[in-house]
Amino acid sequence: MFGTRGVPYHYGFDCGTALLDTVLDEVAGGPVLFVVDRAVLRRHAQPVIDRLRRKVPVHPFVVEAVEQQKRLSLVETLSEYAVERGFDRGGTVVAMGGGLVANIAGLAAALLYRGVRLIHLPTTPIAAFDAVLSLKQAVNLAAGKNLAGAYFQPALIACDLTWLTTIPPREMLTGVAEMAKNVLAVVPDERGRFVTAVAQLDTRPAAALQALWRIGFTAKKPLLARDPHERREALVFEYGHTVGHALEFMSGGVMGHGEAVAWGMLVAAEVSTMLGYLDEAGTEAHYEVVGPLRLPAPTTALDWVDPAALRARLATDNKRGYLAGGAGDVPMVLLQAPGTTVTGPGGLPLTLVPDKMILAALDRVRARDGWAA
Ligand SMILES: NC(=O)c1ccc[n+]([C@@H]2O[C@H](COP(=O)([O-])OP(=O)(O)OC[C@H]3O[C@@H](n4cnc5c(N)ncnc54)[C@H](O)[C@@H]3O)[C@@H](O)[C@H]2O)c1
Repeated sequence: MFGTRGVPYHYGFDCGTALLDTVLDEVAGGPVLFVVDRAVLRRHAQPVIDRLRRKVPVHPFVVEAVEQQKRLSLVETLSEYAVERGFDRGGTVVAMGGGLVANIAGLAAALLYRGVRLIHLPTTPIAAFDAVLSLKQAVNLAAGKNLAGAYFQPALIACDLTWLTTIPPREMLTGVAEMAKNVLAVVPDERGRFVTAVAQLDTRPAAALQALWRIGFTAKKPLLARDPHERREALVFEYGHTVGHALEFMSGGVMGHGEAVAWGMLVAAEVSTMLGYLDEAGTEAHYEVVGPLRLPAPTTALDWVDPAALRARLATDNKRGYLAGGAGDVPMVLLQAPGTTVTGPGGLPLTLVPDKMILAALDRVRARDGWAA
């Protein structure tokens, strides 16, 4: 999966007992630092913790999953907590929660004793279908999203997709926005399957979630095998994230990661159209794939965005430094057609875009009617 090194990913629907056996095999008798999302502790994690406790010492650490908490200080607090309780090099960090818990625990696992075993038990669509299929473990700085971190590989990923069924419906829809991104940017042939799966999330959750899992895996596997650190062709997974991260950060956690990425992809499509890369059909494909996510109307969802604040935030985007640009030039992933990126200097899938053009593209998204809920 990542370069030449494989990571087992066990998943299924209502398969918790079998999954726990694989987790127990992996922790191999050592202590477990069990980093868990508070929303997941009551609903899903307690049986996992109870079962592990019969075999190994388990130290649960509960995280409030709010973006403002995703900081180095929390990684330090949880590392101190672990070491004070006797967690040693033979221990395992288990992360059970969404992408936020995966990143916090992943970074702690990378830093504790310069690297201990990490197991992901993802419980949100973003975590299960996207974040754990990446080596990137990062936290936010005051200046912006995911600016400090490390690459770190888990030993095991295990997910009972029934864990995801307790996500509130609206968050579930925006949560699959990372899949919309993978469809638009990498596997456009999966468009029909994606739209069907999204429509079936309420009525046939097992089939829908398994289909989304496969779309995520199909999109990520070949690129991560060739570019595990996502510094070259796999930068395509940053599609929609330039404006998305800025909106997510500026909203102070009100706008979730998935929704922000969805808006970010629409802005990227409008930028690409303005630059003459993406034709009308390509732009329409964006609105067709994002439409089923039932985002709020853009006029209300984006009315709070202050242009000056957005420009300031874009200036701290974590892709800065890949390309030499002037002040106000922002590196973005753009598509010239679904599944085909615009190739920039050095063969990277990045294009420098003036921030004023990004603001104009945001206005075009705001002005487009008739596709959002
Ligand atoms: N490393 C990567 O490559 C990568 C990729 C994508 C996203 N991310 C990061 O992941 C984070 C977003 O992840 P997310 O969308 O999973 O958000 P999240 O982890 O913040 O969780 C969203 C909400 O869902 C709740 N929740 C979690 N599991 C639940 C369940 N099963 N039932 C009910 N509620 C549940 C949480 O308490 C939280 O309120 C961002 O910080 C983003 O930067 C990282």
